[in-house]
Amino acid sequence: MGIKTVGESSIRVIQPEGAGHGPEALAREAAQRFTDLAREAVDSRGRFSVALSGGSTPAALYGLLAEEPCRAQIPWAQVYLFWGDERCVPPDHPDSNYRLAHETLISHVPIPSANVYRMRGEIEPHLAARVYERALQDFFCGPRSRFDLVLLGLGNDGHTASLFPNSAALHERERLAVAVEASYQDRPVRRVTLTLPALNTARHVLFLVTGSAKAGIVRAVLEGPKGHLPAQQIRPTAGQIVWMLDREAASQLRGLG
Ligand code: 6PG
Repeated sequence: MGIKTVGESSIRVIQPEGAGHGPEALAREAAQRFTDLAREAVDSRGRFSVALSGGSTPAALYGLLAEEPCRAQIPWAQVYLFWGDERCVPPDHPDSNYRLAHETLISHVPIPSANVYRMRGEIEPHLAARVYERALQDFFCGPRSRFDLVLLGLGNDGHTASLFPNSAALHERERLAVAVEASYQDRPVRRVTLTLPALNTARHVLFLVTGSAKAGIVRAVLEGPKGHLPAQQIRPTAGQIVWMLDREAASQLRGLG
């Protein structure tokens, strides 16, 4: 495992263990980190608030959290699940980030349904964003969120959550959640996303990125010119970022991979 510090981010490159593959070794490491952070948060603050990532990468992590030993180690009654973003589709739609988490994690663990804060992708997006922001402010008892952990992925264009390049959502400094209309991989996307004010107050941010297809954008984000890619604007004001990369995703980084 390689560790490198880039500014305020520490990058951990998870090397495959034995015959394991990059993504599986990464998921195991991420599951252990999730479990450790959950126990630490509950021990010290009585609850653990986490914003789950969308996309496909975290599915292996979610599955491990639903299995032993993690399942028994995590204090599910004090865990509160949120999402970093959601597609504007119903919760049973194949593209739904909630559906992925429900199928791989939520339906397999004893988390109270009241602890699961789903973004309502099925309603009008601006309303869904307002409703979600109010739920966050009620949960955090004030105008700002302070997640114990935010899980994030990385798109091929440098987006994270649903903060896409050149998106007005990147410039939002007040709202905690907004509706997004963008284009990704030549397809229009309609999303609800947390904003930088909601993400950059996290205690811990964990990026999970796997595969050689992401190696170029990983290098651009971590070693390229600063500031123009959305993922580069994830800079917790009082928190820590860890990039968990498998060997393929880290393969273009200088000095790592
Ligand atoms: C989403 C995610 C998005 C995702 C990246 C990576 O809803 O799609 O929030 O930011 O994390 O696009 O997606 P993959 O893990 O599928 O590569």
